[in-house]
Amino acid sequence: MKLFIPGPTNVHPDVLAKMATPMIGHRTPEASALQKSISDKLRKLMFTENKIVLSTSSGTGLMEGAIRSVTQKKAIVFSTGAFGRRWHELAKLNGIDADLYEAEPGHPVLPGIVDQYLKTGKYDSMAITHNETSTGVVNPIESIADVMQKYPKVVWMVDTVSSLGGVKIETDKLGIDVCISSSQKALALPPGLSLASISKKTEERLLKIGHRGFYLDLLTLCDYIDKRNYQYSCTPSLPHMFALNFQLDRIFKEGLENRFIRHIEIAEYTINWVNSFFKTFPMAGFESLTVTCVENTRKINVAELNKELQKRDMVLSNGYGALKDKTFRIGHMGEINIDDIIELTNAIEDILKLK
Ligand SMILES: Cc1ncc(COP(=O)(O)O)c(C=O)c1O
Repeated sequence: MKLFIPGPTNVHPDVLAKMATPMIGHRTPEASALQKSISDKLRKLMFTENKIVLSTSSGTGLMEGAIRSVTQKKAIVFSTGAFGRRWHELAKLNGIDADLYEAEPGHPVLPGIVDQYLKTGKYDSMAITHNETSTGVVNPIESIADVMQKYPKVVWMVDTVSSLGGVKIETDKLGIDVCISSSQKALALPPGLSLASISKKTEERLLKIGHRGFYLDLLTLCDYIDKRNYQYSCTPSLPHMFALNFQLDRIFKEGLENRFIRHIEIAEYTINWVNSFFKTFPMAGFESLTVTCVENTRKINVAELNKELQKRDMVLSNGYGALKDKTFRIGHMGEINIDDIIELTNAIEDILKLK
């Protein structure tokens, strides 16, 4: 079945096979070497010199660990949809003081609004989603980065769960302090592993916070990397690590720029196709490069469409939450290529008799 859902995405059979690598001990030099190798490769993918930590949890795990381990005063969360709101929920459920700014559905967070909140001086951490999978909106983190430069005391967390590995994210150039992603999206691995880059500023902040928890405590994760030669405090998902180490080689073999261009080309094709038969949900110019959220202007029955697509070995996704019937989503990240997406759009045209 070809998955056109925005995660989990298709995993290459060779990568899947690496999950079945015979086990090694997690306190062995082999485990350290594996984990160091992954860190070095992720630094290259993320354009950063920062420390890399992995977590045997999906992305939400590190989001939770991050917001509670770095916020001393108050967090401000900028949301463009369900995953943005998740940051705020995580803060509140952990007893962290946090405010939430929500953009209108389909709209991005613009730098001016970030500035307005931060200049109050009330916040010492800020969280935002780069690529909002629920609405298909991409936030302009490049121009938001210019604003963040004015507030060096604020720790900046960015959720790149559905963009890293498909879209260029220049972590250090942007000044992102905690950049978080998951295995099951554009990195095209099975779900169950998350990763983050942690800036020096963040590490300094961690030392001042008492309520960091245990399993997802960023300081413990960083300490183990430093003092235990890249190992982890608890037994990590070694199968994911074997697969990630291999998948990163595949990604570099394709070439980072080639990979980013492939995602741009597929997104452009999909957005144009959508706009000839439906309408993209996000405001023009802020459409995601990894998932296209389609406004269901023809009021089609998405469940019926999906049933027909599945007979042809393909599946897409309905809208998320309140947008369930108003939109549907086409995921195009990771292993998807242009021929796959053309096959999908041809099938949709055929099933819905659009031509
Ligand atoms: C943008 C975004 N953030 C966070 C998450 C949560 O990640 P996970 O399911 O890996 O916990 C998702 C999952 O779909 C997502 O798309």
